[in-house]
Amino acid sequence: MKPLKIGLIGTGGIAQTHMRALAKTDQIQVVACCDLVEEKAQRTATTYGVPKVTTDYHELLEMDEIEAVSICTWNQAHCAPAVDALHAGKHVLVEKPMAATLVDATAMTKAAKETGLVLMVGVQPRFGFARRTAKAIAESGALGDIYYAEAVACRRCGIPGGSFIRKETAGIGTVADIGVYALDEVLHIMGHPKPIAVSGIANNILGKTHHPVEGSWKWVPEDLSVEDFGVASVRFENGALMVFKTSWIMHMDSLGGNLVLGTKAGMKMNPLTIFTHQYERMIDITPQPGSKDDDLFLAKNMAFAEAIWEGKPSPIPAHEMLITNVIIQGLIDSAAAGHEVAVSVPEV
Ligand SMILES: NC(=O)c1ccc[n+]([C@@H]2O[C@H](COP(=O)([O-])OP(=O)(O)OC[C@H]3O[C@@H](n4cnc5c(N)ncnc54)[C@H](O)[C@@H]3O)[C@@H](O)[C@H]2O)c1
Repeated sequence: MKPLKIGLIGTGGIAQTHMRALAKTDQIQVVACCDLVEEKAQRTATTYGVPKVTTDYHELLEMDEIEAVSICTWNQAHCAPAVDALHAGKHVLVEKPMAATLVDATAMTKAAKETGLVLMVGVQPRFGFARRTAKAIAESGALGDIYYAEAVACRRCGIPGGSFIRKETAGIGTVADIGVYALDEVLHIMGHPKPIAVSGIANNILGKTHHPVEGSWKWVPEDLSVEDFGVASVRFENGALMVFKTSWIMHMDSLGGNLVLGTKAGMKMNPLTIFTHQYERMIDITPQPGSKDDDLFLAKNMAFAEAIWEGKPSPIPAHEMLITNVIIQGLIDSAAAGHEVAVSVPEV
């Protein structure tokens, strides 16, 4: 197979993880990279031998040799390059969350549908052994009908800094940063039911009032303009309910982990554990743990490339990730309104 030639948009922190992974294969070649800050793009180009550097992603979209782009910009800059790239005939791999807002996520989903090109959202835990096992078990029907779930991504004290905590760059805080992983995992196992109502709260009281003086997480409280805590209950069209909890900071060690309860079995995701009823007893039928995962960033890039080469659908399609944005937006809107809000998945 001819190597896939891609352009990289955004050369900050996560772009470096992509580049390190891509250095392990000659099947995907980064032929141009772009950042608003020229020195950052130049540094990446020099380190990894990328021939072209630009500060304007439109220039990169005009390059015929580029078949696809990898978008590693902050959340508020996912939509415009993704939509423009798709309309320029380029396949798109975009970092998580798909977008900061439901409006942006809907526009991206629409562009993918209109162009028929691959738009993949890069939530790499989908490629891990535990997740693949959990999904296979759910798809086998062994869990029965899932009627309750918890999606949890909480840190005791882990507010990031930089572009992650500013409204104008991230657009949204923990709910879409680490919260989206929990939502994606649980929705994937549930088979992406449609949410119809969300009731939630969100705030940044602790992040604004706590000043870390040591440790690896050091943020500037004055810079924090997104939420650092968010919880919601989510009601689905099929009658199921999910409790969603996420925090970057809280006065508690843990709020639990991802789990689903089905009519035939219940499953916890981390570590993968399954409970059911057999032999007239309630028993634990947890599978053996698998081998250690390989580089998940390489796995997600290769899955993207293979979908393009083989003309297959996106491995993590926009219409699935759109549901995470419906819930995230519902939580934020409900928190602002102070009551439950009706939500629906936009018709695209
Ligand atoms: N998959 C993962 O495990 C993972 C981990 C961390 C971050 N992320 C996601 O990756 C994205 C970026 O995170 P980061 O840590 O690299 O942030 P970052 O702030 O380090 O880098 C973002 C870069 O994008 C550039 N940029 C912004 N708008 C641009 C535009 N229009 N054109 C060109 N460049 C532009 C900025 O100048 C910056 O260099 C976020 O959406 C984040 O949620 C994913």
